[in-house]
Amino acid sequence: MPRRQSIHGHWSSRLAFVLAASGSAVGLGNIWRFPYITGEQGGGAFVLVYLLCVALVGLPVMMAEVLLGRRGRRNPIESMRMLSEEESGSGKWRLVGVLGVITGLLILSYYAVIASWTLAYVVEAARGAFTGADAATSRQLFEALEKDPLRMLAWFTLFLATAGWIVARGVAAGLERAVKLFMPLLLVLLLALVGYSLTTGDAGAAFAFLFDFGSHAIDGQMLLVAMGQAFFALSVGMGALMAYAAYLPQQTSIGGTAVTVAAANTVVSLLAGLIVFPLVFAHGLEAGQGPALVFHTLPIAFGQIPGGGFVGALFFLLLVFAALMSTLALLEPAVVWLVEQHDLRRGVAAFAVCGFVWLLGLATVASFGDVALLRLPHGGWYDMIEHATSNVLLPLGGLLIALFAGWVMCKNSTVEELDMGVGLRYDLWRMLLRFVAPLVLGFVLVCALGLCDAR
Ligand code: TRP
Repeated sequence: MPRRQSIHGHWSSRLAFVLAASGSAVGLGNIWRFPYITGEQGGGAFVLVYLLCVALVGLPVMMAEVLLGRRGRRNPIESMRMLSEEESGSGKWRLVGVLGVITGLLILSYYAVIASWTLAYVVEAARGAFTGADAATSRQLFEALEKDPLRMLAWFTLFLATAGWIVARGVAAGLERAVKLFMPLLLVLLLALVGYSLTTGDAGAAFAFLFDFGSHAIDGQMLLVAMGQAFFALSVGMGALMAYAAYLPQQTSIGGTAVTVAAANTVVSLLAGLIVFPLVFAHGLEAGQGPALVFHTLPIAFGQIPGGGFVGALFFLLLVFAALMSTLALLEPAVVWLVEQHDLRRGVAAFAVCGFVWLLGLATVASFGDVALLRLPHGGWYDMIEHATSNVLLPLGGLLIALFAGWVMCKNSTVEELDMGVGLRYDLWRMLLRFVAPLVLGFVLVCALGLCDAR
């Protein structure tokens, strides 16, 4: 089959794609969501299930998603339609792309709100609000932000506008170069913070909490949440990687790239856990308190270390940058789809998509800010959208991707595209994709939809 070309050009190298994919993968999912979810799930056993989910389901599905994107070379909707036609499948497979576009926008409607907390914390750190912070002051600091919907809205608007501007100007490729500088810097800061936390916090309790794998019985609910977190952190299941892979050079190894991205991503999550939990236990914070966890703990660390204001501001700034790169990935399927299929200019498409996300995000802001007008129970809207995206829509997208690449596509097509021969590694991938992923994801979905008692 003659190779298709993307109409938007290609990544210049394998490195460029690795950077873009890790830029998309590393973000709030690792540093904000992983610790808080792990805290809620009680640690140990959950961490083990999470690692298994990444290795046995997340990674194979990630490879499949990249494979489909590169073979299709269009926006996810159109790629799925064309590939399905080629493999004599049904035209309905294009709905996988539609589902992805919707999922991405729903995720963004709260992702950008959390990113705006991060943005607000850059300023808090720089103005010295963390100095000498203890558990009580850092909680007050966060509550002041949360109870001020207008301030949250302002930061939220600024964050989305920046993302929209970058997409509209098409300068994202320029930012990939910044990833090369910022990601290592973020890693260095994370390592330094791990050092600080382990030496001053309760390292013993944190290790026991995170790595005592036998701590709890494993149940369906835990598997469900772990699977959702694995997909979320890896950016798998909604077509973002598919959209990025459309620009991937033909000779790049998909397997090698996916392993690199997944491993780096998992390391960042574990480091975040090693920063947060020693402080949680040393300062008597509640591990299972939910989405505010890192915002309650990190200021304590920055408040104690010399130059903490500066280091804190730098840290939150890098985190904003990481969130921004993830946001670009979440926007990409919707924007490229509008550009390719509806002939919108990129600027108009970016404006339309960001405007839509902004409107949706208002509900998230209101839900955290307890805006009485909307009569939403505290966090109600957030909890709902969060559950729907991570625990239902991402696993559903992943399941469909696995079924398509594993069962609809003929073996030769996948062998050709993965280009790693037909040895043990290929067989293992195909087996995980055809059997393990659908079984686990199917089970997870049944639980998520409340069709079984997961406990
Ligand atoms: N993985 C990102 C993070 O951890 C978030 C993200 C970006 C994402 N693209 C995605 C999540 C696609 C799900 C699907 O912060």
